[in-house]
Amino acid sequence: MRVGLLTGGGDVPGLNAAIRAVVKHGEGHYGHSIIGFRNGWKGVVDGQAEPLTRQHIRNMLPVGGTLLGTARYHPRVEDGSMDAVLATLEAERIEALICIGGDGTLHAASKVAEAGVRIVAIPKTIDNDVWGTDASIGFDTAVTVATEAVDRIHTTAESHNRVMIVEVMGRSAGWIAATAGIAGGAEIVLAPEQPFDIVKIAKFLKHRHRAHASFSIVVVAEGAVPAEGTEMSYTTAYGKFGEIVAGSIAERLKFEIEQRTGFDTRVTVLGHVQRGGTPTPTDRILGSRFGVAAIDAVTRGESNVMTALRGDKVELVPLPEIAGKVRYVPDELLDVARALA
Ligand code: F6P
Repeated sequence: MRVGLLTGGGDVPGLNAAIRAVVKHGEGHYGHSIIGFRNGWKGVVDGQAEPLTRQHIRNMLPVGGTLLGTARYHPRVEDGSMDAVLATLEAERIEALICIGGDGTLHAASKVAEAGVRIVAIPKTIDNDVWGTDASIGFDTAVTVATEAVDRIHTTAESHNRVMIVEVMGRSAGWIAATAGIAGGAEIVLAPEQPFDIVKIAKFLKHRHRAHASFSIVVVAEGAVPAEGTEMSYTTAYGKFGEIVAGSIAERLKFEIEQRTGFDTRVTVLGHVQRGGTPTPTDRILGSRFGVAAIDAVTRGESNVMTALRGDKVELVPLPEIAGKVRYVPDELLDVARALA
């Protein structure tokens, strides 16, 4: 059987573990030919295909990134790129396609499945917000990196009697903020799920610094927002492509905290450090489990499904059920962060 494989969207540590598992189990156990597409859906549109063998995956288990490359690109019916995808898959005689991606890649995968292609998807995102699975590849490594950063920030915060704001990734959901905040012992955790009140934050910090502490750590997800009606004088400025050119949420918080409390405040934006480098054992294991499950599913003839971690089991969930939904952080986890402030 000829099985296509692609990685799309932002890279995460653990992708190579999944690729390795697909190739090792697919070729070694079932005798399939694995065809890798470069740079996600873009490579399918452009016909950039190459056979992947066990030689390509040698020593790749601990390596971050993706050996296939990736791109933030999705095929569309309107511009003809969906037709180009179908043409390439036919030309390459692909019988099933394994797509490793986050929300955007999986949404496109479900559209390609609707066009008659046999698709099995694997969830990955450091944001951990793919619906239908308890965990996505990459999240554990990002939390590990963010927690280490918060640990390190602690000592310098204490030495200088400062408020330190650590901005982590998480556009729609605050999984990294909540978990790294709890694990790193942050005083305040701000996530997109619960808009924050700057007046309450300033009051809390003043009280804490008056009562017993001289420093504080705030962990904020990049997608956190002020509650409606709360005044934040320093606003975000967007560029012509909608990108933030000034005033990330961490910078806005710094401005407000300094204005309202007079405390010396600093910002650390962790950014892509959270996505780079070697994957944790948990992400290597998850990538390996999903890769094996995907090849097993393809071989059984399954289609339009995604591998998912449910409790301690890997199961298959229907792709159309997950596409377009966000898995938010439950209140219980955010309550723990607040309870321990
Ligand atoms: O999609 C995951 C993510 O890491 C987000 O948390 C972040 O906002 C975004 O990717 C950054 O994307 P890019 O690498 O394209 O700048």
